[in-house]
Order: sequence, then structure tokens, then C-alpha cells
Amino acid sequence: MFHICRNISASLPVRVLTGGVRCYCTPVKTFEIIYDEHGDPEKVLKAKTRTLPSLKDNANAVIIKMMAAPVNPADINMIQGVYPIKPGLPAIGGNEGVGEVIQVGDNVKILRKGDWVVPKSSGWGTWRTHVYSLANEVMTIPNDIPPVCAATLGVNPCTAYRMLKDFAHLRKGDVIIQNGANSGVGQAVIQIAKELGFVTINIVRNRPEIDKLTQILKALGANYVFTDEFLRNAEMKIVMKSITKPKLALNCVGGRSAAELLKYLQKGGIMVTYGGMSKHPLMVPAGPLIFADVTLRGFWMTQWNIDHNEAERRQMWDTLCSMVRHKMLQPPACQLVDIENFSKAVSQSVQPYVSHKQILVMDKSLKS
Ligand SMILES: NC(=O)c1ccc[n+]([C@@H]2O[C@H](COP(=O)([O-])OP(=O)(O)OC[C@H]3O[C@@H](n4cnc5c(N)ncnc54)[C@H](OP(=O)(O)O)[C@@H]3O)[C@@H](O)[C@H]2O)c1
Repeated sequence: MFHICRNISASLPVRVLTGGVRCYCTPVKTFEIIYDEHGDPEKVLKAKTRTLPSLKDNANAVIIKMMAAPVNPADINMIQGVYPIKPGLPAIGGNEGVGEVIQVGDNVKILRKGDWVVPKSSGWGTWRTHVYSLANEVMTIPNDIPPVCAATLGVNPCTAYRMLKDFAHLRKGDVIIQNGANSGVGQAVIQIAKELGFVTINIVRNRPEIDKLTQILKALGANYVFTDEFLRNAEMKIVMKSITKPKLALNCVGGRSAAELLKYLQKGGIMVTYGGMSKHPLMVPAGPLIFADVTLRGFWMTQWNIDHNEAERRQMWDTLCSMVRHKMLQPPACQLVDIENFSKAVSQSVQPYVSHKQILVMDKSLKS
């Protein structure tokens, strides 16, 4: 049954389905962070406010109120125009984040008002306060986990989970070595590996507050934390004699750091490269290839999402959400920044030695 809801700010009456499900009441304004050319994010990003189309025009659409969205390296690369996915310009920044459905089109059966949703694919544009989206472009996520976890689960923890599950036949007690261990992915690897019973050797860049960082990573479950400098040291070889050789190496740095990881892999070990933060090509020493027959692999979460169906994806999300509920998986160390201060968040996200993920916050209550 329908009744007429008279919009406060618009002169036309709009339709409401009683029962509180469908309401196209007030036109929704969005504040969004856009770019209409590729380049340095600190220069090309700008804020824009506009009114979203009404759901009257598309019964398959929903309106989502965004809560939080991180600033990830891939977002920066996409704005720079150096990422394999290039949304048409002008584009809205951000690839992951969580929002709440606030209006639902008449034909939409898969979503309800109040559902929490995340985008299904990259390039959807999460750095905005409100989104007019086709219902099938998003998927629901349980709303009993902290919003910051929900906003950051789809890229880094999913990547960590897949890399631990899909490349080596790991058993409890097996050892993994990773660089960039303080990254969002690295922190997720530490926690998920701990839960699965694997031992982690974690490499980070040296820095003035290395002891503090080491403690933070150990509190997450890291078994060993070494600096990249120590990794190159003769002492490291002695330390490694007391640890079972790793079966799996996870590399998000490249360059010389990748070569160092390869040197410690066990015979037949596998190194998965998933990032190139140093911007240096992988160095691959001949020794591990010839004498240990190591395998080099790559992983891209976006491709996994394309290649797998929603049920498989949901199964992974359920596992990770359950870990969050049981306090086995925390969100990355982060700094919450109001979306209006996006320039600050973006510039901070590319600074070295920060160890805090910048999270744009659209729902101010998350900061209290
Ligand atoms: N393939 C995939 O599907 C996939 C999915 C998720 C992420 N990734 C990639 O994984 C990487 C980490 O992503 P994230 O979101 O976890 O990152 P993040 O939380 O922003 O952390 C960035 C990491 O990169 C390190 N880093 C920055 N510049 C570096 C340099 N020049 N040399 C060595 N290390 C450097 C930082 O270490 P410091 O503290 O020492 O600066 C930090 O550990 C990125 O390359 C990202 O694109 C790939």
C-alpha cells in the first residue's frame, strides 16, 4: 500500500511504501572527492557537492549513506593513472568502504533499508557521503562488526587470507616470511596466520621507533619481527638456523627486499608478489631458483573476485567476519579523518614510516 509523503524541500510529492521499507522522500545531496584528470592525488583531487538522482527514475537502484572508506595504495595508483583499472573520468576516488542503505528502489529484492553494503568491484568510488547505486553493484556485509573493520575487510584481509590459503599446502607450525609486515595486508597476514597456526617472520623497514612497532606487531601475533637491515646482516643467517625454513614468502616491496626473502625459502618454496611498494623491479638471485627450485607467483584480489562466484566470496567474508567477532582479526592501525579533510589523509597516506591507515570518515559518530 502506498501513501503520499510530502517532501519538505521539493514541491513534488513522492511515493512511500508503508511499513517503512520504501521512501523517496528528501532529495539526497552527496559530497564527493573526484578527479577529472590523472596525476598527483594531492593536486588533482577536489571536492564536489551535488544532488543524487531520485529512485523514481530507476526502480533497481538504492541510495547508500557511506560510513567509512580507507585510503589504500591502489586508490592512489588509480588516481595517478598507473593502475590496471582506469574508471572513466571524471571519477570518484576510493575502491573500498562501507555504507548503509537508506533508500530502496521498488524492484529491489536483494537489499533492505538499514543493510550494510560494500562495493562488489573496483572503481565504484567510495570517497563520498552518499551513493546512488544499482543494487547489484554492492553486497551486504554483517552489521555486527565495527564499521572500520567492515570498511577495510574486502581488500587487505581478503588478500592476506587468499595468499595463506591458495598457494602453499600449509600445515600448523609451517613458517611464512613477509616484507612490508606493518602494512594493512601484513597486519592481516600476522593475525590470520596466527589463527591458522602458522609461524610468521615479519620484515619491516628500520625506523626510529622500531621497538614500538615490533611490540605492536608481536601483540597482533607476530612470532619474529626483523628489520630489512638485519635481514641483510650475517647475524640473520645464524638466527634463521634456529627457525624452520619458510614454505611461503609474501612480497609487497620488490627490489632487493624480494631477493632477501627468496634466500630464506625452503626447497620448493613459493614467493607470492602482491605489491611493489619500493617501485623497484624484483631482484631474483639465481641461487634460490637453481638450488631450491623456488616458484614465483603473483596475486591480485580483483582478479580473484572476478574469477569466483558470490557464494565463494561470501564464504571468505563469513570466515573473516567471524574472526573479527572473536577478536582474532582487528582492523589495521588507523587514523580516522573527516572526509572534508581528504587532502590531509591522502598526503599522509603516501608518507613513509606512518604505519597508520588513513580512513575517511563520513559518519562523524565513528570518531567519538
Ligand atoms: N595484489 C592485491 O590484490 C593487493 C591487495 C591489497 C594490497 N595490495 C598491495 O599491497 C601493498 C600494501 O598495501 P596496504 O594497503 O597493506 O598498504 P599500507 O597499509 O598503506 O602500508 C604500506 C606499506 O608499504 C611500505 N612501504 C611504503 N613505501 C615503501 C618503500 N619505498 N619501500 C619499502 N616499503 C615501503 C610501508 O612501510 P613503512 O612503514 O616502512 O613506510 C608499509 O608497510 C600495496 O602495494 C598494495 O597495492 C595488493
